[in-house]
Amino acid sequence: MRGRAIATRVLPTGGRNRGRSIATAARLLREGCLVAFPTETVYGLGAGVFNRRALERLFRVKGRPRDNPLIVHIWHLDQIWRLVETIPVMFWVLSERFWPGPLTLVLRKSRAVPDVVTAGLPTVAIRMPDHAVARALLKETGVPVAAPSANIAGRPSPTRASHVLEDLGGKIAAVLEGGASRIGVESTVLDISGRRPLLLRPGGTTREELEAALGMRVVSPRGSRLGPRSPGMKYRHYAPRAAMLLFEGGRPQVLAGMRSACRGLLRRGIRAGVLCEGSAASGFRGADVASLGGGGAERAARRLFTGLRMLDGRGVEVILCQGFPEERLGHALMNRLRKAAGRRIRC
Ligand code: TXA
Ligand code: MG
Repeated sequence: MRGRAIATRVLPTGGRNRGRSIATAARLLREGCLVAFPTETVYGLGAGVFNRRALERLFRVKGRPRDNPLIVHIWHLDQIWRLVETIPVMFWVLSERFWPGPLTLVLRKSRAVPDVVTAGLPTVAIRMPDHAVARALLKETGVPVAAPSANIAGRPSPTRASHVLEDLGGKIAAVLEGGASRIGVESTVLDISGRRPLLLRPGGTTREELEAALGMRVVSPRGSRLGPRSPGMKYRHYAPRAAMLLFEGGRPQVLAGMRSACRGLLRRGIRAGVLCEGSAASGFRGADVASLGGGGAERAARRLFTGLRMLDGRGVEVILCQGFPEERLGHALMNRLRKAAGRRIRC
């Protein structure tokens, strides 16, 4: 089977098509096929959580390292009993406040969850997405669905069905069409399997919100402890094909630095792309500009992966990217930008 192209079905979910498309996608998942679906963060590539062959195929088509575990998606709290061994008190506070939503909780796993899902870890990551199509699909499928982001490993995550087709067209059974993802960066991953909550990946739920709900500080594990705790964080991610430079510092200095770098590249005949807030776009004549919206990390997050893919599509050689303040969603945004960029420039 390896490498043979299959026809990837694009299943519309607008108006009268929704019921039929969801029924088809759920049937495909139950039959062991791979189906991509929209969520509020990014599109996921689903496989039934107890179907080992589908899970093996999922790792293969994404080119995902086997030591990087998957998030299990549910639509109803009743589904978690089968997946976990124990439930800490923190779980109730967090699920009540943030589910459905962009928060993934890491808990001690039950024996029912196959090792291929968790990459052999004693824990399992679980999330309840806040997207009508995802919820309807999970309900109709009837079993929890393991789903990483629906991109080739290392590429920018998909926030539209067309991004999924770019990376995985001809390799998966279907993609449910659900428009552009509302948040645009992935969920926050919070490990609550130990005594203190550990923030393994910043994402759509902010640290500030988590701390307010829990009434305690939420810290990220440092250095070497991160490796075994969240294997996914050690890989280069979100990378465009072009070389990418991230400019960090005060806004005026950042924009001035980007403008002068842009002029320098263009003078040498190098095709330059720019990712910056909309109001700054006019300062980059001669470059391909992808707007990150009208300012603020929330808007920028929503457009980030589309912008990276768009500039790659234009064939730029170097991408100059504006950094943002690390507040609220700015943490997740800067985390993705630093992983995507080969080099950071302090202005
Ligand atoms: O928003 C999202 O979370 C999206 C949508 C589709 O739900 N999914 C997503 O999946 O971003 P993925 O596979 O691209 O990222 C999953 C992250 C990785 O960093 C992985 O290492 C971590 O979650 N993870 C999964 N299981 C874990 C576990 N048991 N312990 C620690 N980290 C885990
Ligand atoms: Mg991913």
